[in-house]
Order: sequence, then C-alpha cells, then structure tokens
Amino acid sequence: MGAKFSTSSKKRQARQSSSQRQNQFQTNSGSSDGSVMRFGRKFHDVSSSAYWFPNDDEEIDRLVGQHFALKTLFRGNVVEKCRESVPLEQGALVLDVGCGPGTWLMDMATEYPCSNFIGVDMCDIFPTNIRPSNVSFQVANVLERLPFPDNTFDFVNMRLFIIALRKEQWPTVIKELYRVLKPGGYLQSVECGMLERGNDFIVWAGQVFKDTIFSRGQEPHVASQLPTLQQNAGFIIEHYETKDIYLGKPSEDTIDGRAQPYFCSLLFQM
Ligand SMILES: C[S@@+](CC[C@H](N)C(=O)[O-])C[C@H]1O[C@@H](n2cnc3c(N)ncnc32)[C@H](O)[C@@H]1O
Repeated sequence: MGAKFSTSSKKRQARQSSSQRQNQFQTNSGSSDGSVMRFGRKFHDVSSSAYWFPNDDEEIDRLVGQHFALKTLFRGNVVEKCRESVPLEQGALVLDVGCGPGTWLMDMATEYPCSNFIGVDMCDIFPTNIRPSNVSFQVANVLERLPFPDNTFDFVNMRLFIIALRKEQWPTVIKELYRVLKPGGYLQSVECGMLERGNDFIVWAGQVFKDTIFSRGQEPHVASQLPTLQQNAGFIIEHYETKDIYLGKPSEDTIDGRAQPYFCSLLFQM
C-alpha cells in the first residue's frame, strides 16, 4: 500500500485577473440530484460517473479520518514546493475537485485565512454547519466541464480519483484541471497505490481491490502514471513523492507509529 503525491505547474502564459471571475461561479453542472440504496448503503446516481464508493454518513466519517491519516503521512496538506510557490499567505484562489465532505479544504481555509477556497463534488455531501467564511461549495461533475472560466485558480487539488475515473477519462480530466488553472498555477494530486506486499490476507485483499478496479475499466496503477498524464496535458512536473505504508509495522513516516493501524483499519472498511 502506498500513496503518491504529485505536484505540477501550468506553463506560464499571459496572466488574467481572477478577481472579476469570482462572481461568475454560480452555475452547477452534472449534479447528483438523487442517490440509490444498495446493500444498505447510499450511492450516487450520476450516470456518467464510474465512482463506486458510497456517499452516506458512514463514508463521510471514513473520508474525514482518511484525510487526517494522509495529512500525517505527508506531513501537511500541501507539499513544500506549493507552500513556497502558491501565494497562500497573501490570498490565493484554490479549487478542490471531488472535495467530498471538504475536510482538506476546511483545514486549508483555517490555515490560510487570506485565501479563498472552492470545493466541487458531484455529490452534495458538503458540511452545512461548520464552514469557514473563506470556503464555498458547488455541485459539479469534472467529467462535464467545470463551471469556471479558463485561467481562474492559483492552485487546484484533486485527491483519490482512482476509483472515480475510467482509465480513458484521466487525460480529459487532467486537461480540464489545466484549463481552469492560471498560467504558472499549481496542481497537487494524491492517489493511492496497490497493496502488493504483506501477509497472505493483505496480499489477497489487495488483489481483490485491484481486480475490482480493473473490472470497472479503471487503472489500479494510475498513481505511478500521474507524472506522464500531467506532462501530456502540458504541466511541468515540479515534485513527485511516494510514501509506503507498512501495515502492522512501525514506520518513520508516522507519529509514534499511530497512523498505521488507523490507516489499516480505514483500508479494510473500503
Ligand atoms: C475518495 S473520495 C475523496 C474525497 C476527498 N477528495 C478527500 O480526499 O477526502 C472521491 C470524491 O470524488 C467525488 N467524485 C467522483 N467522481 C466525480 C466527478 N466526476 N466529478 C466530481 N466529483 C467526483 C466523489 O463524490 C467523492 O466525494
């Protein structure tokens, strides 16, 4: 099991102002109007999407826990390169695509109060009570063009789409992220790798997960293909990092070794 962090930047061209565009972010597209129940769990009903995890309260709890496990694993919400290059302290415009319950976004909004954060997801599982004033959410489907003009954002984050996109959809989606980023803007992308080492159970569970992804026309090894996919869309790769999670064995990437059993238990709930 592992997770890969990829940070790339959009080639610089003529800059456009983003302040005029903030008022234009009103349109929704590809929204999930309803949900379907299967095996006692709630799932989206968006016909264009191959995403196959639930979108109910139990899943929201899992995503929140997973956010903090990933934050611990990568020692923060953004890599050093982005902290240095994106004007987060001064006031950047940030988009999180497939934000789910918005935990990364709200964590970032609290850390960087001068920046503005927009989260989009095809499912409305956004928080309704606690929401920093510099955060907003919209229902939008990245497969159906995002409701933002070209060259809008300083920073785009997209995380854990391995089970959301079919293999052939990746290039189109990455081009869409490129389109909405300002010239010189940054994309941060995190995807998980496959469970391929460990005891018999771990190897078996990893194989079942991999076969399921594959049978749905998705790419189990997309994490290692991110740099090529991003370069093909026009990005310059600035940083690429892989973190291994040794299930059941202490690792220097955790605080007191606590993230491992936690991440392990999250994994087995999938
Ligand atoms: C595994 S969750 C990750 C959530 C969040 N990025 C995080 O790291 O906690 C994937 C999210 O992507 C959303 N999603 C899947 N396909 C999408 C699409 N085509 N457009 C927008 N959101 C999508 C799902 O509804 C889900 O909330």
